[in-house]
Amino acid sequence: MTQNRTNFGSRFGIIMAAAGSAVGLGNIWRFPVETGNNGGAAFLLVYILSVAVLGIPLMVAEFFVGRYAHSNTATAYRKLSKSAFWGNLGFISVIGANLILSYYIVVAGWVLKYMIYSANGTLSAIFNASDASNYTALFNGFASDVWSPIICMVFFILMSHCSIILGVQKGIEKFSKIFMPMLFVILIVLVVFSLFTPGAKDGLYFLFHPDFSKLNSQSILSAVGQSFYSLSLCMGCLCTYASYFSKKVNIVNTAVSISLIDSIVAIMAGIIIFPAVFSSNIDPQTGPSLVFIALPSAFHQAFGNWPIISYIVSTLFYVLLVLATLTSAISLHEVPTAYISEAWNVKRTHAATIVTIICSLLGILCSLSMGILSDVTLFDKNIFELFDYTTTTLMLPLCGILITVFIGWKVNKYLIVSELTNNTYKNTAVVNIIVWILKYVAPLLLIVTFLNGLGLFEF
Ligand code: PHE
Repeated sequence: MTQNRTNFGSRFGIIMAAAGSAVGLGNIWRFPVETGNNGGAAFLLVYILSVAVLGIPLMVAEFFVGRYAHSNTATAYRKLSKSAFWGNLGFISVIGANLILSYYIVVAGWVLKYMIYSANGTLSAIFNASDASNYTALFNGFASDVWSPIICMVFFILMSHCSIILGVQKGIEKFSKIFMPMLFVILIVLVVFSLFTPGAKDGLYFLFHPDFSKLNSQSILSAVGQSFYSLSLCMGCLCTYASYFSKKVNIVNTAVSISLIDSIVAIMAGIIIFPAVFSSNIDPQTGPSLVFIALPSAFHQAFGNWPIISYIVSTLFYVLLVLATLTSAISLHEVPTAYISEAWNVKRTHAATIVTIICSLLGILCSLSMGILSDVTLFDKNIFELFDYTTTTLMLPLCGILITVFIGWKVNKYLIVSELTNNTYKNTAVVNIIVWILKYVAPLLLIVTFLNGLGLFEF
C-alpha cells in the first residue's frame, strides 16, 4: 500500500521533525543526570566524540534504509534482504518503538502535570528554602497515585495521536515546525536567566572544565548509550521519517545537522540545569528525581529574591519539556502506525488508534508500577524499570549491532554509495568513511557496550 505515501514538504520540515524526534527527555533530563553522575565536562567530551564517530554514521545508515525503501521500517529491511534473519530486523525496531513509547508517555504525563503544578502556583507555594522534602512528598504522592498519572498519560498520548492522524505533512511536519522553534526560543530565554543565578560560575565550570580523573570505562560506555538514546537511533524512528524524504535530500548533511542540533540542545539544558543546581546546595549527581524534585526546589532557591522569576523559569522549563517529549513521542508513535497501516493494509487512523490503545494499556501497567503494582518485580526491577531496561540496555545496542553489521557487511556497497550521493557519485570519500565505521568500529564498540550493560564484561 505504498501508492498513497506522502513526503515531507520542505527541508526545514525534515530537520524540525527529525530534530523533534531526537530532542526529548534524553537531552533535557537524562543528559544532565548522566553528566552529573560521570563527572561533568570529561563526560561531555566523550559524548560529543560518540555522537560524531558512531551516532552520525548510524543515523546515515537508518536514513539510507528508509529513503531507499520508501516504506515502513519492517518492510524496508525486507526490501533490502530476502533472508529471514536480516529481513526481520526492522520488525524488532517496530516492537522496540512501541515499548519505548509505552513508558515514555508515563514520564511525559508527569511532565504535563508538573507544567500545570508550576503554572497554577503549586510549586511556588510549597517552596521552603531550608528543606526540599515538600517536593519529594509532592512527587511521590502524585507518581504513586492510581488515577492522576494515568489521566495525564492518556491525555498526552492523545495529543500525539491527533498529530499522527493528521498525516505526515499536515500533522507531524506542521506540529514540528511550530513546536521546535518555540522550544529553541524557550531554551535561549532559560539559558539567559540561568547565567544570572548565583551558582552560574560553578555550574558552568562543572560542565565545561574536564576532570579526566573522573573518566572510567563505565562513563565511556554510558556516553555511548546516552548518545544513541538521545539521537533516537535504532528504534526505527529515523528510518520511518526518512521514508518520507524526497530523493533530493542530502542524507549525510541532514544527519550532521540533526546531530548538531541535538547536542547543542543537550549542552544548553546543562547550562540551564547546573547553575540552578549549584545555586542550591543540591548534589549534581542527584539521579532521575532531578527534574521533579531537585529542580523545582533549585529554581526557587536560585531566584530566591525574585519569586516571579522563579515562577516564570520553572513554568517555561516544563513547557519546554512538554514540547520536547511530544515531538519525540510523535516519532515513536509513527513507527508502528506506518507499519500497521502499510503491512496490514488498514487506514492510517485505525492503525494509529491500535497503537494508542496498546501503548496506553502497557503504559497503565508502567504507571501503576510506581504505586499499587510496585511489588510486581522481575530480576529486582518493577514493570517500568523492566521496560526501560529491555529497550535502552538490551534492544537499543542489540539493534545497533545488527544494523551496523547488516549495512556494513551485507548490503551492496554500490547501492549505499548511489543512494547517499543521490546518484551523483560525488564525495564518495565521505561515504566510504561512513561505511568503514559501520563495518568495523561501530559493531565492536556496540558489542562492548551491550555486554557491559548485561554485566558480562568490564574493562
Ligand atoms: N531521543 C529521544 C529523547 O532524547 C528518545 C527516543 C529514543 C525517541 C528512541 C525515539 C527513539 O528523549
